[in-house]
Amino acid sequence: MFSSIAQVGSAANLRVAVVGSGPAGFYAAAALLASDLDVEVDMIERLPTPWGLVRLGVAPDHPNIKSVSRAFEKIALDPGFRFFGNVEIGKDVEHEGLARLYDAVVYSVGAQTDRALGVPGEDLPGSWAATAFVAWYNGHPDFQELSFDLSGERAVVIGNGNVALDVARMLALTPEELEPTDTTDAAIGAINKSGIREILVVGRRGPVQAAWTPVEVGELGELAGAEVIVDPADLELDPASEAELAEAAPTVRRNVDHLRDYAARAPTGKPRAIRLRFFSSPVALLGEEKVEAIEFVRNELVDGRAVATDERETVACGIVFRSVGYQGVPLPGVPFDERTRTIPNAGGRVEPGLYAAGWIKRGPSGVIGTNKKDATGTVALLLEDARAGKLPPRGEGTLEELLAAKGVETVMYAGWESIDRTERAAGEPRGRPRIKLCSWESLLEAARTK
Ligand SMILES: Cc1cc2nc3c(=O)[nH]c(=O)nc-3n(C[C@H](O)[C@H](O)[C@H](O)COP(=O)(O)OP(=O)(O)OC[C@H]3O[C@@H](n4cnc5c(N)ncnc54)[C@H](O)[C@@H]3O)c2cc1C
Ligand SMILES: NC(=O)c1ccc[n+]([C@@H]2O[C@H](COP(=O)([O-])OP(=O)(O)OC[C@H]3O[C@@H](n4cnc5c(N)ncnc54)[C@H](OP(=O)(O)O)[C@@H]3O)[C@@H](O)[C@H]2O)c1
Repeated sequence: MFSSIAQVGSAANLRVAVVGSGPAGFYAAAALLASDLDVEVDMIERLPTPWGLVRLGVAPDHPNIKSVSRAFEKIALDPGFRFFGNVEIGKDVEHEGLARLYDAVVYSVGAQTDRALGVPGEDLPGSWAATAFVAWYNGHPDFQELSFDLSGERAVVIGNGNVALDVARMLALTPEELEPTDTTDAAIGAINKSGIREILVVGRRGPVQAAWTPVEVGELGELAGAEVIVDPADLELDPASEAELAEAAPTVRRNVDHLRDYAARAPTGKPRAIRLRFFSSPVALLGEEKVEAIEFVRNELVDGRAVATDERETVACGIVFRSVGYQGVPLPGVPFDERTRTIPNAGGRVEPGLYAAGWIKRGPSGVIGTNKKDATGTVALLLEDARAGKLPPRGEGTLEELLAAKGVETVMYAGWESIDRTERAAGEPRGRPRIKLCSWESLLEAARTK
């Protein structure tokens, strides 16, 4: 028993690299550190900052959700845990080199890019992936050069998921709602002077099939500067949707209740409107040099699928956000399933010694908490392999030696704490939780000032 881990003869029986510092990475680290084996976890993150989408995806006006990072901070304080920020696997260090240094590697790298719509005009200026907009307003250092033209009167958001609602809500926030958040100053400035009057959120299926959740659709109705408009005709359900609703989870019924409430509301004269429209798919984005309009086809539901009718409509707009889901990207040397855009695995095990957790394991769905069960399941298999002596033997050397030899500037956890202090100190006089550093240079500079 424990043959492979006993053989290595290091102070720690089991050395595990966790790649990616989002929720899945932290929940995997927590499960490893809580095991009865003697485990050391090195977490490797391409950014100088931890927390993945909790810092760079979750909407800035949801500070309570962002505060899950406090639980991750506690995990990071475990003596068996080390953070190696500013290290990208596949660029700074190859998978093969990493795998040699550890008994096991867990990839929890998330889903790093967007899914395409596959319609003409999708690449016109003014057509944006929601992924890019979200990363921009949250201060992701790779997205700060982008410039979103919010001068047009109508923005269109394609998709009926929670990310689509985040995008719509962020576009609709008033200066007073934005100011106490950690939205970047550039994004606050652009949203405050935006000319957008209507945000049209478009779903290809109906209200019963929308992927969003009740709290998120309900809070739209609380916005100070925008009212929510739903066409009552979209709520006249066909018999199949009626039957689906009758059988559906309570969350789906609450979604529909919110929509019925919006459809019954009289206009209040707020300066902006979020219009939720259903049964429509984009067929083309139109414009000479930039997006000027979008053409939709009306759908009907057939066996739960959206099927195009002959009815088409063109709607003028100044900007389009495509929010139809994220997808994983391959890492050199690591198996990848092009169809699911995930690392192929069985319950998180790719093969003994190689594992996956979170969005790169199961695809881009589920809330932060979903990743806890997911990552804990992966770790259970890893520990089972360790106990069964199935892990491949690890080689000589350490990650520090490898990084030093390659001249990689590593941001250790103390470096992140220094970034964190700098950001919080900048936010305090303005009553904001933090003002994010959002260039690589400023992040690395702050990390050096320990
Ligand atoms: C816009 C948006 C808003 C959301 N809002 C909420 C919300 O309000 N509430 C909620 O419960 N859930 C929310 N979610 C869902 C939640 O964020 C995800 O379930 C969760 O973040 C997935 O965790 P993960 O660890 O798999 O991936 P991620 O959080 O994406 O973490 C992956 C990490 O891996 C790093 N990485 C990637 N490639 C490499 C590499 N090659 N080398 C090293 N590091 C790498 C990335 O930089 C990143 O830090 C939201 C999701 C999105 C997209
Ligand atoms: N506050 C929160 O809790 C919060 C906030 C943000 C994100 N999240 C979570 O993060 C995960 C990802 O969210 P997401 O919004 O990116 O994904 P999602 O929940 O999977 O929603 C994707 C949406 O895009 C639509 N879509 C897909 N392909 C399309 C196409 N070709 N044309 C038109 N529409 C298309 C889908 O419609 P179909 O159903 O018809 O496929 C669906 O409405 C979700 O689990 C979400 O709940 C949570």
